[in-house]
Amino acid sequence: MKTYLLIVILSFGFFQISFSQMNLIPKPVQLTVDEGFIEIVNIQEVVSENGSFEFEQELIIRTIHQITGKKPNPDKQNDNKLTILLRQLDEGDSAAYKFFIDNKQIVIESSGKVGIYYGVQTLLQILQHYKNEPIPQLAISDYPRFSWRGMHLDCSRHFFSVEEIKRYLDYLALYKMNVFHWHLTDDQGWRIEIKAYPELTKTGAWRSGTMVGPYSNHQYDNLNYGGYYTQDQIHEIVHYASQRHITVVPEIEMPGHSLAVLASYPRLACRDTFFEVGKRWGVYEDVFCAGNDSVFLFLENVLKEIMGLFPGEYIHIGGDECPKTRWKECALCQRRMQQEQLVDEHQLQSYFIQRIEKYLNANGRRIIGWDEILEGGLAPNAAVMSWRGTEGGIEAARMQHPVVMTPGKPCYFDHYQSVKKDTEPLAIGGLNTLEDVYHYNPLPQDLSEEEKAYILGAQGNVWTEYMKTFSQVEYMALPRMAALSEVLWSAEETKDYGEFLTRLRENVKILDTKKTNYAKHFLQE
Ligand code: ACM
Ligand code: ZN
Repeated sequence: MKTYLLIVILSFGFFQISFSQMNLIPKPVQLTVDEGFIEIVNIQEVVSENGSFEFEQELIIRTIHQITGKKPNPDKQNDNKLTILLRQLDEGDSAAYKFFIDNKQIVIESSGKVGIYYGVQTLLQILQHYKNEPIPQLAISDYPRFSWRGMHLDCSRHFFSVEEIKRYLDYLALYKMNVFHWHLTDDQGWRIEIKAYPELTKTGAWRSGTMVGPYSNHQYDNLNYGGYYTQDQIHEIVHYASQRHITVVPEIEMPGHSLAVLASYPRLACRDTFFEVGKRWGVYEDVFCAGNDSVFLFLENVLKEIMGLFPGEYIHIGGDECPKTRWKECALCQRRMQQEQLVDEHQLQSYFIQRIEKYLNANGRRIIGWDEILEGGLAPNAAVMSWRGTEGGIEAARMQHPVVMTPGKPCYFDHYQSVKKDTEPLAIGGLNTLEDVYHYNPLPQDLSEEEKAYILGAQGNVWTEYMKTFSQVEYMALPRMAALSEVLWSAEETKDYGEFLTRLRENVKILDTKKTNYAKHFLQE
């Protein structure tokens, strides 16, 4: 045992020295550098050995072309000829991959298409790092620590184009993230075409003004603002994501954060009045009426279309920040509580979520919701996204429900990232530095090993009240996303912030080629 430990430590020491010179993020689980070098110009072929990897072949060829100005040419006479082999294995974890470079070939192998894709991402980082310089022969064995490596984006508070969403997905792909939590509906705008309910996009996708400056100023412009994704565009994005092995989890908010729906279909509210799509940030008292069966018919019809557009297992149903004010005053809501023998409005919220869960479960899907869905009783098969700290996640894991950790500290990337807040663009508040994100461990110490198994992973949230442009989204999301990717992929025991920064300084050269507006505070650290 002692000898074994010694070998591990020694080899780790060697690995560290070679490794920090590279740009690989997230850090592979195991990497050894061998003697000898290859050169990119000698790569003549990219071959799928078994299985078909045209998309990955194309990615590699495009990157080689960008670097050398030439595409690999299999017919060239060359004694140093190199082949890239993508090889699908019969067994093993589908997200794990092995990668090696020797003097004849670069091999990426995995039992899964997804593992091959991750190996290719590693190769692309290496090629972009060394470019035309000699590339060391090496061997990598790599696999993710968590299965939910998520990034969220709020497209309601501000709307981003299809091209911008694809760019966002490119960043996820670069860092081997695999879940895109797409926040598509909220008080300030409904952003997805639903064929059964055209008013959602005719009315609900547009607001007649937006808050300007800090919330406390209560200042507004009076500009018409909005937009939405057509179902064709949704298909296009879901396909783009799936090529990159990213699952899109759509979020359709209920019962709160639903003012844009009520503006479109006022009868779904508790009160008999008309509503405007929200101009103010924050929480609104008017929410879906929980006593009105038309609300459930409406939501089931919406979710039917959502299921047709998003093939993933999970549908996010929101569930956060639902004031109970209107329900307390509403005859229909109170009658529902009596009929269903619900003791308070928290149980009414639980009734609401459970009814939606039944519908989605009957159609083969699962719900995930913000941690308020614990209040009044958790729906039997629900997964919980813990945002108000980690307590909700801990409670849900103890109840043997799947959990995604996204506590405000440090997973809210709408918070400031520098202590010098007055020199930063206006943000919602808070402070989550790159280092805070890097040191995060999604597994709470209080949980037993069995309970920890319910923690699927974690996620960075990008709420966009204070991000009017995609450039600002980039500034807030990057490089914190890179730090989170390492939290979610790499081994906890090998974390070292200084060494991460060394790699990050190299890694962001990839972002430079994309002209990404990432935050540069770490360059001073
Ligand atoms: C949330 O930040 N309201 C989930
Ligand atoms: Zn009601």
